[in-house]
Amino acid sequence: MNLPVSPIHDPVANPVSGSDLSPAAVVELVAEIRALAREQDAVILAHNYQLPEVQQVADHVGDSLQLAITGREVKQTTIVFCGVHFMAESAKVLAPDKRVLLPNLSAGCSLADSITAESLEDWKARYPGHAVVTYVNSSAEVKALSDICCTSANAASVVRSLPQQKILFTPDKNLGAWVKSKVPEKEIVIYDGCCPVHDVLRGASVNKVKGERPLAVVIAHPECRADVLEIADEICSTTAMIGAVGRHPEARTFIVATEHGIVHQMKQRWPGKEFIIADGCIGCRMHCPYMKMVDLMMVRDALQRGKHEITVPADVADGARRALERMIAVPRDA
Ligand code: 13P
Ligand code: SF4
Repeated sequence: MNLPVSPIHDPVANPVSGSDLSPAAVVELVAEIRALAREQDAVILAHNYQLPEVQQVADHVGDSLQLAITGREVKQTTIVFCGVHFMAESAKVLAPDKRVLLPNLSAGCSLADSITAESLEDWKARYPGHAVVTYVNSSAEVKALSDICCTSANAASVVRSLPQQKILFTPDKNLGAWVKSKVPEKEIVIYDGCCPVHDVLRGASVNKVKGERPLAVVIAHPECRADVLEIADEICSTTAMIGAVGRHPEARTFIVATEHGIVHQMKQRWPGKEFIIADGCIGCRMHCPYMKMVDLMMVRDALQRGKHEITVPADVADGARRALERMIAVPRDA
């Protein structure tokens, strides 16, 4: 079957949806992708926010931390990273001998873009003697200027593990504030970045959704604001949010405060449960346009044409790897 080659992607003029394909075309495309992956010795990794059909074709679906570690551990020599740029870059940094492909180079991250190497240099100069903890949602250049990285799955453990008392936390202010509340013994200065997808949500909106379902359990990502996290029964990384459902066997309904793509994995794992996005409106506000920029045709093209290979200059990669490896070595309950 000759499927059209995906055009250069303009997310505004041409939002991606694999659902334009008929079910039969999807089945055929998935088979083609799996055959190409075998032929190219490739593993397909997908973040929990990716389009459902992309999650379905992947070998592994997970959060930032899991995917970064999986990319390094798998035996395949090529990684097709269905996610955003900083994630593919981290995979390349951790597995420098592998070929890492990002199917759509436009897939960025507003939070990662909120801090540059120059702005971090300026900030460090203003706070001498502070250890820099950088959330993985950042460029390799920013990571290279940091003492250690963290993800939403290990941020408090990472901060607690450091010998330094004074910490600069970059770039997410909401995750930083949450870590500060969990690790009150440290002096933490927090950068002013945020993820607009999470930061737009207000506690009042979550309360409205919960008011209609008083028995529902609220599960939130720590990129949400403090007024949302105060209402949450569970606060964790995307993959841990899926697992958290199992801690509430009595509950049928879950209010989910993160990007709506996660509901696909939640429904697969917990078919009898009901999941409602915390803004009460799937796909309205808690929608990350970058995470929806990869579709099945792009995954196929990535494998067929080696698009788009991620490269990181050696000196930057060495610095970023040091910060990532230090993070990976931190025990979770430190
Ligand atoms: P996780 O690391 O929890 O998967 O989150 C990544 C992300 O981009 C959240 O917006
Ligand atoms: Fe970046 Fe926010 Fe999208 Fe996550 S949801 S990739 S932090 S813009």
